[in-house]
Amino acid sequence: MTLLGKEAELKHSKGNALAIGKEAREAKSKNNEVIDSTIGMLYDENGKFYEFKTVEKASKDLTSTEKYSYSSTAGDEEFHERLYEWIFRDDITNVRNKMHLRCIATPGGSGAIANTFSNYLSYGDKVLLPSLMWTNYIQIAQEQGLGYETYELFDDNSKFNNRDFEAKCIALKKNQQRVVVVINDPCQNPTGYTMSYEEWIGVIDTLNTISRDGTPVVLLYDMAYIDYDIRGFESSRLNIKLFQSLNENVMTILAFSGSKTLGLYGLRIGAQICLTKSEQNAIDFTQANDFSARGMWSGTSTLGQSIIRKVFTDYKKEFEEELEYARKLLIDRANCFKEEASKHNLKHYPYVCGFFVTIPCENSKEVFEQLKAKNLYVLPLANAIRLTLSSITLKEVRKSVKIISEIIK
Ligand SMILES: Cc1ncc(COP(=O)(O)O)c(C=O)c1O
Repeated sequence: MTLLGKEAELKHSKGNALAIGKEAREAKSKNNEVIDSTIGMLYDENGKFYEFKTVEKASKDLTSTEKYSYSSTAGDEEFHERLYEWIFRDDITNVRNKMHLRCIATPGGSGAIANTFSNYLSYGDKVLLPSLMWTNYIQIAQEQGLGYETYELFDDNSKFNNRDFEAKCIALKKNQQRVVVVINDPCQNPTGYTMSYEEWIGVIDTLNTISRDGTPVVLLYDMAYIDYDIRGFESSRLNIKLFQSLNENVMTILAFSGSKTLGLYGLRIGAQICLTKSEQNAIDFTQANDFSARGMWSGTSTLGQSIIRKVFTDYKKEFEEELEYARKLLIDRANCFKEEASKHNLKHYPYVCGFFVTIPCENSKEVFEQLKAKNLYVLPLANAIRLTLSSITLKEVRKSVKIISEIIK
């Protein structure tokens, strides 16, 4: 007999990235030859954790109150303001004039995702996810008593599949009279795909069309990797300007990750930001999400909020330079990967930029075990494996491609 409640009996994290990452770290601590290409954290070319110096400086500037006191559930208003400026950049005045903005501090982007799933769908509803995805979306949905449907991420030309995206939105609208969709862009996890401005226009058109009759639609924009976009700070945010042309039945919720933008992975800091034309929807957003945050985790790290506020206030320019350097590290590794992959005839999904690249393969579990036997740890997905470029050096990229192509052949 189990003491677990009926729903809890089904709760079992299988093969998740954090568990595989732990296994890889343990293996590496015993054998330096091990390549740990699992977890999405950034490491430098010496194989050391990439710490942003400005983040460290900001944390040293803080008083005890700024570090350890309780904050309100929604978080500090100055934290919200600095985040808005970081995300919307030069367009912030325009956004404030045209749209309603609200923010809830959350434990990582994960908290923003959990809150959104829980408040914009009802028990048993389905959220629409990409076919290739950060698989924790599924676990977060299941934890909220939700199911999921997927849209094919790519079409035959390896571009965003707006046709399937639209078809799946229409089917969900028919079945549950509301639609919540997740788009993770740029630097999509796990492929590294980055949508073009034109592809985003297609998405906006689709969402406006399906909501025109009053159907509520939420676009959960998972922007975890936005600051690693090869196109730079300004161009990476052009799609965000398009959100202003969504009608008032569509709300955009931006999931910001302090883990990725500032390397504050373990501190668990992020934000759930709503952008809407409807004042009432903005009021409802704060009411329900503040309630859920209080009910689930009570309040978010004051230390995390204060560090971010400080970096964006006192060290912004210097921090941007550090991010540009980090981006360059990834670009070099990605170029190296592409060159080696083409030499070895190794196929991969369309990659533009970011932490990960994904290689299609059958029997990914077997491949994972075979790679492990060669001291290479990757993340197995359904019919694919994910290589994490952010956590390995250039030398390791070359070695990994060689090992993978030998096994996959
Ligand atoms: C696509 C994507 N979204 C969201 C997250 C959430 O990250 P965190 O909760 O650490 O901010 C991750 C983490 O790996 C991710 O890959």
